[in-house]
Amino acid sequence: MRLDRGVPAVSAAPVSAADAAEVVRERAGGLVPRVGVVLGSGLGALADGLSERVEIAYGDLPGFRPTTVDGHAGRLVLGRRGATPIAVLAGRSHVYEGATPAEIATPMRVLARLGCDTVILTCAAGSLNPAHRPGSLVAFTDHVNLMGFNPLLGENEDEVGPRFPSLADAYDPAVRAGLFAAADAAGRYLDEGVYLAVTGPSFETPAEIRAFRTLGADLVGMSVVPETIVARHAGLKVAAVAVVTNVAEGLGGQPLSHEQTLTEAARGGEELAGILAAFLEGL
Ligand code: HPA
Repeated sequence: MRLDRGVPAVSAAPVSAADAAEVVRERAGGLVPRVGVVLGSGLGALADGLSERVEIAYGDLPGFRPTTVDGHAGRLVLGRRGATPIAVLAGRSHVYEGATPAEIATPMRVLARLGCDTVILTCAAGSLNPAHRPGSLVAFTDHVNLMGFNPLLGENEDEVGPRFPSLADAYDPAVRAGLFAAADAAGRYLDEGVYLAVTGPSFETPAEIRAFRTLGADLVGMSVVPETIVARHAGLKVAAVAVVTNVAEGLGGQPLSHEQTLTEAARGGEELAGILAAFLEGL
C-alpha cells in the first residue's frame, strides 16, 4: 500500500540550511536576529516598519521554495523592531503546494543557525469555537496534526535535534504569556485555543468540522504545525497566533473562499502587528 498519496514524498534530510544561513549572514550587515517571525496569508504588512532593513528573496536562498500562493510574498526580511533584531519570513511553503519535508524544514533551521532562540508563527485560520469570531486573534495552546505528514520524516539530522523530539509544551507558555502582556499593553484582545492542521487545499466538509470539534479543536488551518515540529526539533521556542478569517465550513452562512481569507487576514493582521510590535519592542 502506498502511504504517500497527497503528501510529499520522504526526501533526504536537508543539506542547505547552512548554505542559506551563510547567504543571509553575508548580507545581514552584522545584524544577528534574536526572534524569527513567519507571516501567513494576507499578513505581509507585519514586515513593514523595521529599521536597518535588509530584504532577501527566497529565490536567492538555497533550499527555500519560492512561494506560489496569493498573499505570500516569499522574502526574508532582517531588521530591528525597537532594539530587538528580528528575521521575518514573509511567505511560507505549504504541504498542499507539494513542499517537501526539506523545504519546510530549511527556513526554521536557518533561523536557528542565524541565532534566533524563538519563532513566532502567524497564520489565517477558520474557527470551530463560537467564542472566536472572524477578526479574533488566537494564540495556540497546542495542536492536533491531521496532515498525515511529519516534516521530520526521513533520516534524522542528529546535529540539529533528537530523532524523537518531545512536543509537550510545543507552544512555549512563557512566550505566550509575553504575547498576552503585549496585547494588554497594546490595548488589543488576544484569545487562546487548540489548532488542528489539515493539508488542504480544499476546505473541510461540514462533517469533518463536526468531527474536529469532538477532537478538541478550536481552530483549523493548513500551515504552522510542520514549522512548529521542525522548530522544536531545532530547539527553538515557538509561539503561534492565528487571525480568525472565517467560521469553519458548515458553521456559517456561505461557502469559504481564499479571497475571504485574504481580506479578513489583512484586517486582523493590523491588530496582530500591533501586538507583535509591542512584544518585540519589550524584549
Ligand atoms: N480551513 C482551513 N484553513 C483555513 C481556513 C479554514 O476554514 N480559514 C483560513 N485558513
